Amino acid sequence: MKKLVLFLASAVLVASACNGPVSPQDRLTANDQKINELIAQMTLEEKVNMLHSKTNMSSAGVERLGIADMNYADGPFGIREEGQPHSFQSAGWTLDSATYFPTGSALAATWSEELAYKYGTGMGKEARLRGKDVILGPAVNIQRLPVGGRTYEYLSEDPILSAALSLQYTLGVQDKGTAVCIKHFAVNNQETNRGSVDAQLDERTLREIYLKPFERAIIEGGAMSVMPAYNKVNGDYCSENEHLLNEILRGEWGFKGFTVSDWGGTHSTMGAMLHGLNVQMTGSNYLGQPVIDSIATGALTEDLVDEKVRQILRVRMAIEAVPADVANTVQTSQPESQQIALEVARKSIVLLKNMGLLPIAKDVKKIAVIGQNAVLKTQSGGMGAGVKALYEVTPLEGICKRAAELGIEVKYAPGYKTIAFRWGPAPANLDPLEARSNDEPADPALVAEAVALAKEADLVLFFGGTNKSIETEGSDRKNIDLPCGQNELVKALFEANPELVSVLVSGGPTDLRELEPVSPAIVQAWWNGTEGGTALAEVLFGDIVPSGKLPFTFPKKLEDSPAYAMGNFPDPNGAGGDLFSLMFRPDVLKMTPEERQKFLDSLPKPVSKYTERFYVGYRWFDTKEIEPMYPFGYGLSYVYFEYGPITAKVEKETVKISFTLHNDGEYDADEVAQLYVSRPESKVEWPVKELKAFRRVTLNAGETKTVTMEIPLKDLRYWNEGTNAWDLEHGKLQLLLGGSSDDIRETAEVTI
Ligand code: GLC
Repeated sequence: MKKLVLFLASAVLVASACNGPVSPQDRLTANDQKINELIAQMTLEEKVNMLHSKTNMSSAGVERLGIADMNYADGPFGIREEGQPHSFQSAGWTLDSATYFPTGSALAATWSEELAYKYGTGMGKEARLRGKDVILGPAVNIQRLPVGGRTYEYLSEDPILSAALSLQYTLGVQDKGTAVCIKHFAVNNQETNRGSVDAQLDERTLREIYLKPFERAIIEGGAMSVMPAYNKVNGDYCSENEHLLNEILRGEWGFKGFTVSDWGGTHSTMGAMLHGLNVQMTGSNYLGQPVIDSIATGALTEDLVDEKVRQILRVRMAIEAVPADVANTVQTSQPESQQIALEVARKSIVLLKNMGLLPIAKDVKKIAVIGQNAVLKTQSGGMGAGVKALYEVTPLEGICKRAAELGIEVKYAPGYKTIAFRWGPAPANLDPLEARSNDEPADPALVAEAVALAKEADLVLFFGGTNKSIETEGSDRKNIDLPCGQNELVKALFEANPELVSVLVSGGPTDLRELEPVSPAIVQAWWNGTEGGTALAEVLFGDIVPSGKLPFTFPKKLEDSPAYAMGNFPDPNGAGGDLFSLMFRPDVLKMTPEERQKFLDSLPKPVSKYTERFYVGYRWFDTKEIEPMYPFGYGLSYVYFEYGPITAKVEKETVKISFTLHNDGEYDADEVAQLYVSRPESKVEWPVKELKAFRRVTLNAGETKTVTMEIPLKDLRYWNEGTNAWDLEHGKLQLLLGGSSDDIRETAEVTI
């Protein structure tokens, strides 16, 4: 195969020598001249062949001209195992076991831009080893619903935190020579009816909340590809949404790469071609022969095809193709990635409550570990984001290893049984206990066994939470209740032995109203990757100090959260209309295109109204003064941090602040300082406070540091729906500094 000649470096040098720094997106145009020469040599068939899938995870190049195919790989937190050429079925390879990084909500709980960058480098490197050009990630949609099936995949309820981490993840991946495909663009916040639901929201909410996690990664990060979401936004499918893909993404943000539909998310030839889609995944029934036919009739022009091919080739030439005889010749998972996964896991764990039981006291000699979530692996399942991990240290394994070193005896009992991410009816050979549903009451025999163990122990570690058959792509949870009778079990355990720590293993929030009173200590441990058990043991035994902060609100009850409180979710008349789940139904697949279109048009049109507007997450709870179980940004430590007074000034389009931070404890520890703003005299409607800056700070025991933070004035703008443009309201700005949205320690005031 002809070697691709890369012009990237020279072209960038030329461009920057001419007129100042080249923006990350404009760097992609460095090869446009060479690309135009290639396009001039291509036949129409060769061009159109690039606009749709070749295999389930690739789109075509042009071998005749030395243009390599584009190879894609899921998922956001681990390079997915190789699938069959035309299905997601495993190819059964042996060198594609990858590093399972902590999932999105865990990464978000670190509030660490540095770790997000390193995370991206680990992903980018392992993608290359697998011969992949594009990672289908990061997955960055705002956490609107506590029940969202993809909460574990996504990041935060706050756009500033989500945007900062998605930018760094993007930079990390692309610095390793792999392209990101940031997803799902946009307003993809529920799995219910995900293939057809129309997200209806006002422009200000769209701009200030739901587009923010994409904007920085694209403009500042140079994200090379974007995956439009399955859903509609204000009436149009994302994969053919003029406002999102052409007006905003390309027009305002200057995006120069290409868009690739979600799998099964393309809906027409003309809509996709005219409104911003480059590649149909999968299939070619829209962006294959029908494009050629539309050119023949004059409905489309070849120039439009050329522009789409140009955008694809910009990425193709920015990413060096991995020769087939180099790819997949070593095991995917790399030691440095495993180390990154451990570092992220260590800083993601959130201490929610501690009445003195943690870190585990030196006189504890017998520990009872109760709960199947201590042994359930969380790497695979959940559809697209599953990882075949080289290894995964479960909580029980991590605890047993550390306890052995300390001469502590550990005993385990399952306490309850869940379905470990099994789909469909229980296989006949599964024992009745295993075949139980996730929301049945506690099993008396299992409770009795667990209570007996608890009685003999010095300390009980109860593992609750959800699992991959409860939180998954493709469906939302019905509620945030703890499943499998866990509440009943934990009360019985506390009755037997009040020296009890509850550890929650889940991607999203759970209802802790019954568990909290019978748990002197509570830890949120997430789905925390290949070394999750190691990191958890280190926190529980005090080798490291917990420093994670919640990236989204844990409501006391689901009905307190905004979309529920406003009656916006679940959509009362949305049942049964999900095009996505129906369009693959065997009888539907047998239909002719006309019959299928008629059937699809006959389906209900599910809608999700965002009338809560920008009051998402803590913006809602704080403004409406609804007390959550645990607030956004909350997380305890084993030490106490003292904040000094803020000095603040406005210069060069930036609010600059500095303050001292003191570690008043006996352990080295990290604090995540958070800076919120409030606008006491505003004429514009705002939430009562909004996060605008944050900083993770490492302080040795007794150490004091001066910390600085900046808020670019552009981050203080609002979308003015009168002028349909960003606008900065001048006046007083209150600065609120602390270690959680509900723990403001220092305030100051500036005028902007
Ligand atoms: C899925 C997901 C998407 C994933 C793609 C390929 O349905 O929505 O995130 O990358 O299909 O697996």
